[in-house]
Amino acid sequence: MYNSKIIGLGHFVPEHIVTNEELSQLMDTTDEWIQERTGIQERRWVKDSGDTTSSMGVKAAKIAIERAGIDKDEIDFIIFATLSPDMYFPGPGVQVQEALKIKTVGALDIRNQCSGFIYAISVADNFIKTGMYKNILVIGAELHSHGLDKTTRGRGVSVIFGDGAGAAILSREEDTTKGILSTHLHSQGEHAEELALIAPGMGKRWVNDIIADNDPNDESYFPHMNGQFVFKNAVVRFSEVIMEGLQKNNLKPEHIDMLIPHQANLRISQFIQKKFQLNDDQVFNNIQKYGNTTAASIPIALSEAWEQGKIKTGDTVVLAAFGSGFTWGSVIIKW
Ligand code: ACO
Repeated sequence: MYNSKIIGLGHFVPEHIVTNEELSQLMDTTDEWIQERTGIQERRWVKDSGDTTSSMGVKAAKIAIERAGIDKDEIDFIIFATLSPDMYFPGPGVQVQEALKIKTVGALDIRNQCSGFIYAISVADNFIKTGMYKNILVIGAELHSHGLDKTTRGRGVSVIFGDGAGAAILSREEDTTKGILSTHLHSQGEHAEELALIAPGMGKRWVNDIIADNDPNDESYFPHMNGQFVFKNAVVRFSEVIMEGLQKNNLKPEHIDMLIPHQANLRISQFIQKKFQLNDDQVFNNIQKYGNTTAASIPIALSEAWEQGKIKTGDTVVLAAFGSGFTWGSVIIKW
């Protein structure tokens, strides 16, 4: 058995910045409300740049591959996490294979929303552990801005989300005391509709229904979120799954050098920070600049933290996410 380790990180966010002030011109909201409840100051939207989920993923991947110092032909497998694929099917993994002209390696798409990158890392880690693959490209990317209800009706959701992509190269590590130490995944489908985009979906409303019933009041094509319920579950599950990972590795909260929580809401991160008595240097947040980029949020934050020199060899790094499904998970890394 081997371990896996992250040997290259990259991220891409669209140039176009959308401030809270600009959103208040589209819907009944204020900069004060958004900052007070979420910590978000601005987010990126692709606008008319032509970027898509897969193209942003490709841009992030190119940087990660270059920083990993490997050739694209050394990549054995591709994993792409997103809830906003360019096409309903196929998923964007194959688009990356084509865009990067990687050999005809396998490409897997992960549908676990805000926990998507954690799930993707866990799958990659286990493929590497068993010796099946040596280098895996893992991408998390989202294009939310085209699918949001940008009216007052949708303000509880649309002020939160942003576009972007992050990528990592996971590679074989022979020393099993280093790299990814463990991963922890959970789900609770009972709460699936508390944070969901109901249509289009084969079980609910599909293309025929859309054509037959072009109802302007139909909200099932926009993301729906029971914000307070999600918030209450998030703080509990984040804490649980971080503790689960620490205990598995005989670690205590004070051993965390860097916690990278999924960027869902600054208030959630602050709650976790306080609960585990971590100082500001032990937790990385960038939701203020990008909003919630769902599957992209952890790899973007990880890439930025690494660029800023906040993650060093030997550090204990913890990644944790909670989101739609509900699904949640954590990753414990010895960097
Ligand atoms: N601007 C102004 N007012 C607003 C806005 C807005 N953008 N959105 C909602 N409001 C209003 C509501 O209408 C409500 O008004 P009322 O009291 O007159 O009815 C009031 O503000 C309070 O609304 P709540 O929804 O109760 O606000 P809350 O304090 O819960 O904050 C938020 C909302 C920020 C969404 C919060 O609940 C949250 O962050 N939840 C968790 C999000 C999360 O973790 N998601 C998981 C990952 S996402 C994924 O997996 C895809």
